Amino acid sequence: MYAGTSKVGLGHNAETTIDLRSDTVTRPSPGMLAAMAAAEVGDDVFGDDPTVIALEEKVADLFGKAKGLFLPTGTQSNLCALLAHCGRGEEVLVGRSYHVFSAEAHGASVLGGIALDPLDVGADNGVEPEDIRAAVKPDDPHYPITRMLSLENTVTGKAVPLARQEAAAAAGRDMGLIVHLDAARGFNAAAALGIDVKTLARSVDSVSACLSKGLGTPAGTVLVGAEDFIAKARRYRKMLGGGMRQVGILAAAGLYALEHHVPRIPDDHFRAARLRTELAELDGLSVDQAPNQTNMALVTITAPDPAAILTRLRDKGILTGLDGNFMRLVVHRDIDDAGIDRVIDGFKAAL
Ligand SMILES: Cc1ncc(COP(=O)(O)O)c(C=O)c1O
Repeated sequence: MYAGTSKVGLGHNAETTIDLRSDTVTRPSPGMLAAMAAAEVGDDVFGDDPTVIALEEKVADLFGKAKGLFLPTGTQSNLCALLAHCGRGEEVLVGRSYHVFSAEAHGASVLGGIALDPLDVGADNGVEPEDIRAAVKPDDPHYPITRMLSLENTVTGKAVPLARQEAAAAAGRDMGLIVHLDAARGFNAAAALGIDVKTLARSVDSVSACLSKGLGTPAGTVLVGAEDFIAKARRYRKMLGGGMRQVGILAAAGLYALEHHVPRIPDDHFRAARLRTELAELDGLSVDQAPNQTNMALVTITAPDPAAILTRLRDKGILTGLDGNFMRLVVHRDIDDAGIDRVIDGFKAAL
């Protein structure tokens, strides 16, 4: 499990630091700030914010679903999806390493009485159709009622091949399950697979798509699905304290990102690929070279004393997290080609 990175960057200078801890660290670009400042707003709990409505419609349309709902975070979006799809005593099948199981504090269980049954995840980060079929419980009072399958794409920076995702979704659907996709980085997945997000979403009932990761907004996630599902999710969003007011300011950042930042996602992928290739040549590092990678470099430090290497990188203004001897380096729109050069030079010196 990849540990948080929260204290690593305390005190760093944002202008000179290269922050590889996550793609959530991006700051809004001048164009995005201008769009936010110009946003037409209203009270979104009353359904009055035209910019939020425009964003919800746009994202629903992009993913080929009927309706959208703007939420503050990906965690709240996934939670609203699980609460809206399932009731108490029901169960969700989900990949063990997927965020819904591993990093959302089992909110659906705590708050909704919903069980989570983790499935093994393969080398390509997909789940096996036979494991899905085997995990669906019989109609027997000893067991929860299996209601839903929760998939994810990308997973730890890797795009799950469309055929694998669709085979899992089909297995779930054949067993009568609702299928949800946590597409926090769905635009990265689509870019890596050479498809549009509508194709990525065609086999699932609902999708949660974050705007604050590779897309670079300060906050926001859009949940999309059928009209009755979104109406239920809206009720849960309010219950969870996620009903915001003149939030068109954030929705404007989302609309700006869809237009200006989605087309540049491949730049992050090219830069991450260069980072993987060049770091792999250094003694003391082992770099994951699996196919279908997107904006991350997954690095195992084989040299002695990884913590000292982390400190030396930090002294050079290069921030990453460290979990044992594992580093996840995340490339995003605040890191350009010169930044990648600095990271490579920094690793050479730190090793
Ligand atoms: C795959 C995935 N899903 C959901 C989330 C949750 O998003 P948030 O941090 O906005 O709650 C994350 C966050 O990194 C994630 O990586």
